[in-house]
Amino acid sequence: MTKKVARLFNSFKPEHYTLFLDPDRDSKKITGTVTIAGLKKGRPSQRLTFHQNGLTVTKATITRHEKKGDQAFEVSRINHQRSLDEVRLHTDAMLYGGSYSVTMEFTGTINDGEMHGVYPCNYELDGEHRALIGTQFESHHAREAFPCIDEPEAKATFDLTLASPIGEEVLSNTPVKTQTEKDGRLHSTFETTPRMSTYLLAFVYGDMQSRETKTKDGVLVRVWSTKVHSPESLDFALDVTKRGIEFFDDYYGVPYPLAKCDMVALPDFSSGAMENWGLITFRESVLIAEPKTISQSSKEYVALVVCHELSHQWFGNLVTMKWWDDLWLNESFANVMEYVGPDALFPEWHVFDMFAGNEGLSAFRRDAIPSVQPIRIEVHHPDQISTIFDPSIVYAKGGRLINMLRNYLGDDVFRKGLKAYFTKHAYGNTTRDDLWAALSEASGKDVGSFMNPWLEQPNFPVVHVDQNGKDLSVTQSHFVLDPAKVDAKRLWPVPLLCDTPEVPALLEAKSTTSVLPGTAYVRLNQGALGHYIVDYANTPHLNAIAKQAEDKSLSVAERLMLLSDSSLMARGAMLSFAATLELLQHYTDEDSEPVWDIMSLILGDARRFIDAEPKLEPAIKAQIRTLIQTEYGRLGWKEQPKESSQDTKLRATILGLGVYAEHPDITKEALALFEAYKKDEQAVSGELRGIVFAAAIRNQVQGAFEYLLQLEESTQNPELKNDARGALTVTRSSEQAQVLLGRLKDSKKVRPQDVDHWLVLIMRNRYTQQEAWDWLRNNWDWIEQMFKADKSYDYFPRYAASALNTRKRLQEYKEFFEPLQDQISLQRNIVMGIEELETRVTWIERDLEAVKKQYAI
Ligand code: BES
Ligand code: ZN
Repeated sequence: MTKKVARLFNSFKPEHYTLFLDPDRDSKKITGTVTIAGLKKGRPSQRLTFHQNGLTVTKATITRHEKKGDQAFEVSRINHQRSLDEVRLHTDAMLYGGSYSVTMEFTGTINDGEMHGVYPCNYELDGEHRALIGTQFESHHAREAFPCIDEPEAKATFDLTLASPIGEEVLSNTPVKTQTEKDGRLHSTFETTPRMSTYLLAFVYGDMQSRETKTKDGVLVRVWSTKVHSPESLDFALDVTKRGIEFFDDYYGVPYPLAKCDMVALPDFSSGAMENWGLITFRESVLIAEPKTISQSSKEYVALVVCHELSHQWFGNLVTMKWWDDLWLNESFANVMEYVGPDALFPEWHVFDMFAGNEGLSAFRRDAIPSVQPIRIEVHHPDQISTIFDPSIVYAKGGRLINMLRNYLGDDVFRKGLKAYFTKHAYGNTTRDDLWAALSEASGKDVGSFMNPWLEQPNFPVVHVDQNGKDLSVTQSHFVLDPAKVDAKRLWPVPLLCDTPEVPALLEAKSTTSVLPGTAYVRLNQGALGHYIVDYANTPHLNAIAKQAEDKSLSVAERLMLLSDSSLMARGAMLSFAATLELLQHYTDEDSEPVWDIMSLILGDARRFIDAEPKLEPAIKAQIRTLIQTEYGRLGWKEQPKESSQDTKLRATILGLGVYAEHPDITKEALALFEAYKKDEQAVSGELRGIVFAAAIRNQVQGAFEYLLQLEESTQNPELKNDARGALTVTRSSEQAQVLLGRLKDSKKVRPQDVDHWLVLIMRNRYTQQEAWDWLRNNWDWIEQMFKADKSYDYFPRYAASALNTRKRLQEYKEFFEPLQDQISLQRNIVMGIEELETRVTWIERDLEAVKKQYAI
């Protein structure tokens, strides 16, 4: 049991902060003064308590405001409770409930080498070391910058004055109100913020450039970066931001509430992006779009992430969850809006097909592990907070469910409910019941009873369809990868999404039967919107559906989910993986990129059997060469002027598979293009660059490793860096893997934000797995010290589990990670990692013979 940490909001309710901060880049020291005006609640006591972490409060005064005048209280003792993240101001006199102002002078530090609180973002310009100073306060790091009540419910207004070097840019949530020079520093006072949570406060200062524009309603929009990038590389994000705000103004029916919106690319950044109100921060690779070199997929990703963070300006910032247990209210919602926005701005991209591929697959695969968390989860300790941001659950599964609800209610009704919700709760905090109330009112449906079982229960249902002529029986059961852990009593309200009126719309009980008008086979989960999988129990029924996939009378999302369902059932011992491979035969003429995502994933599943039977490798490669033939013929290497963005991306998928499968023509052309690239960067399109690089490494082209390593180290273009990384990590040479691993602890070569990516890529490569797995175990002390307080810490056990495939590795995994389970922030991912590996190893053992037979071995 995790110890509960007290909520300070129960004893003090802040209303306004007057904050002065002077974060000095050179000394790495912060000095500051804060006055917190607010209400003392609860029982009379002789102390007031605030959050702090790593701060020293040197002086404090307490004033009580009463009708008859102000009363000052002497602070007799300032007590820092370091283990509780608290500072306690003790008084000899009794403090009764009422209105107070508390002023504290304090010192703190700029967190060098870490990416939370106030921290430096290091970079080089013209060979010289530079740094921006920025902030990352979500989830509970505002307390590293100033004493406060650091809980989302403790909303207040802020007047920030920030000291920074003269001549540099300085930004915060609101526009600058006044600036003066004092003691050789620039003091900027920002306009009062709206009432908001501490985790959304932000500032950045440094030597930056920007591009700017205005929305229809006059909101100033600017995109910022360091000067190592070209100014044009900010234009794409600028356009998406402007149009994104205009879109959400209209979609939500409530105008963007601030005068400006700044988007800043930070050279060091732990997550992808952060929705600070009016000052959104990004990892460089997620905001910078160099027009000459950007690929279609990176461009799409920029648009998606920008819209995700913009949507939070309403859902999350204007209306905020009361406590972290309803975090999904923020993130599940933003996960859908991440697609709703671009779907409106770039209809030609068909992003909702991508939604099924990106979010759906990630959600189902993670949600099938027995100990997975439900979407809504109790949170008692700060160390638990970072672990609830599970991208596959709180984002992907939550997003799927919100989208399922949106379709269940209809988009117009959904929007009507949202508008009422925003209007009623603006600048306030909510729980899910508030959202359900607004949506129920708008729809006349009981939204809570439809959604809560999906939010509270982990895993998902499998719906068994048994049709004999006109007789149909539909039964739901709990799906989980380990059949021994199936809970027979678990039920969900399942929207059956069938176009035959005899089949009920919602299955709430265990099962239902219907008599159909004819004998044509029914199909459930049409549109693939439901978060469940479908098991067509009779082979002819499944074959009929597979035929529909083949002749493309099923939609993209439906074709995708048919394969995904089958692969999950194989992992869950409901059928053999050979049957999934059989089903794949129906997809030789598949021409849709999102469907190819799942096809690649299934081929990746097949490759996991290679450790158990090396002879499978050539057989799988041969299968891939056959499978890609039609699309390779259609798409070739050359981008066509008017082709769809999906085709542009699909070409990369097909050629990437071709390079892996040693397709002779594809390999030859890729290697020729690598030589051409070395002479002229423009010789290879952005979308194909990564594949061309990887081909050179895979085929051990003389000097390619050194060339790409040098490129990775010297380029400032974040996309090129990613492409080089992806290629370098497919090396089969143990020495080269050691070279790559040897750089991980050198922050001048590998930014801390990228360490986990490098490591997992090297570990997923069968030929270098041993080196990476050894590295992780041998350098754990360093990992722990570097990342313990970072959001990415629990990715290390998670990524390791995703890469390993054998019983021996399972044993090693247990030996290494089990003793680390007492760390709250790692616990769940270790338990799940073990389960994931156990079920995978059992699955491989169970299906190996059938798979060998399928490949005629
Ligand atoms: N609020 C999050 C970022 C965050 C989460 C910061 C937890 C600190 C702790 C932000 O809105 C987000 O979801 N970012 C995503 C990007 C995305 C489009 C999925 C991320 O960083 O992964
Ligand atoms: Zn988010």
